[in-house]
Amino acid sequence: MKENFYFDNAATTLPKPENVYKFMDEFFRTHGVNPGRSGHQLAVEAESMIVETRRLLAEFFGYAGNPNRVTFSINATDSMNTALLGLLEPGDHMIITRMEHNAVLRPANHMERDNGVFVTRIPADSLGYVNPDDIRKSLQSNTRVVVVNHGSNVIGSLQDIRAIGEIVRESNAIFIVDTCQTAGVLPIEMDMWCIDILVYTGHKGLFGPMGVGGMIVADHVEIKQIKTGGTGVNSVSPFHPDEYPYRLEAGTVSIPGIAGLNAAQKWFAETGRAQNTSSDSHRELCHAAVKHIHETELIATTRLIDSFKSIPEVICYGPSHNDPRVSTLSINIGNLPAEQAAAMLDADYGICVRPGLHCAPIVHKDQGTLERNGTVRFAPGYFTDDEDITQAITGVASIAEFSVSSGSD
Ligand SMILES: Cc1ncc(COP(=O)(O)O)c(C=O)c1O
Repeated sequence: MKENFYFDNAATTLPKPENVYKFMDEFFRTHGVNPGRSGHQLAVEAESMIVETRRLLAEFFGYAGNPNRVTFSINATDSMNTALLGLLEPGDHMIITRMEHNAVLRPANHMERDNGVFVTRIPADSLGYVNPDDIRKSLQSNTRVVVVNHGSNVIGSLQDIRAIGEIVRESNAIFIVDTCQTAGVLPIEMDMWCIDILVYTGHKGLFGPMGVGGMIVADHVEIKQIKTGGTGVNSVSPFHPDEYPYRLEAGTVSIPGIAGLNAAQKWFAETGRAQNTSSDSHRELCHAAVKHIHETELIATTRLIDSFKSIPEVICYGPSHNDPRVSTLSINIGNLPAEQAAAMLDADYGICVRPGLHCAPIVHKDQGTLERNGTVRFAPGYFTDDEDITQAITGVASIAEFSVSSGSD
């Protein structure tokens, strides 16, 4: 029997595909050099791997523009800050939703408080869905940016990015999508859905390591540099280069991190091929893989939701298994504090979940779970198996019994 039953894939996926570990180790040993800075053969080969990864990610996300606009940073939070600080000026208006993560909420709050930016926060319904028409109604002549979280990291609801994208495209605003919970989990079509800036993190559904993320900036969008420094090109210039990707990449990029993303892209393609996809296109192979991943994850979610709903003490939040969603779900057990329930699941059953507010306090406010300090979040992933699910159901059922016997139901 396993020692740990991992249900914290919304925080970061574990495990990664085997070839990711292998390629990171190999490439870092043989090509752990500073790419683009030195002209030697190893640096050229390291740079080729980076260029290939930009191209693979562009195809993966349905972006047909210049792959140099696929940029790397340390994570989604970093790129989101770069995008917002590089786009918004005092007097500008921005629209976000109440489903956002602190990676968006906090930069927006700071800009509202410190930089004279006006912020509208669009509510979702009780299941966590934003009505695209509410975004249409909030657009103003000075709306510079609309930011939407594609998939909730608390209750799993998915927003209709295409419908919102089409609305925003009719205005002058730039549409930024936070894909942290959906990249690698469902097919994403950057061009078709009118996404202007797609922000991704490497360590969740994209199956890379921590320390790498980034954004894709559509060809028609310009972001002012907010970080400047060395790039390895045109060093004589006193100013940072304007051209992409250097414009948004100051300093040395993470070779091991990008190698991890590169290997993961190849794993997606192989997984797509195993789904009997006849095409050789990276995009189509990956889309087949990602559809298969989504279906697999939802089987786990459905089993969990069905079992949890049959336990009277368990409160389930958010969409049902039939609604548009990712696998992440939130529960509480009677009146037990989420932290206590999660600690018991861990100590007594080896179940890894995340209790609390999940960096999304407004979602908890709207779900009525802020006062009780949040929920217990289960996030099954592609590698979650029957043993994990059985253990989760057993653990939750016995803690529910405990909550009754201890008077916390
Ligand atoms: C919806 C969402 N946005 C943004 C982030 C931030 O990702 P990172 O911590 O990798 O920057 C997360 C991570 O938890 C997330 O779930």
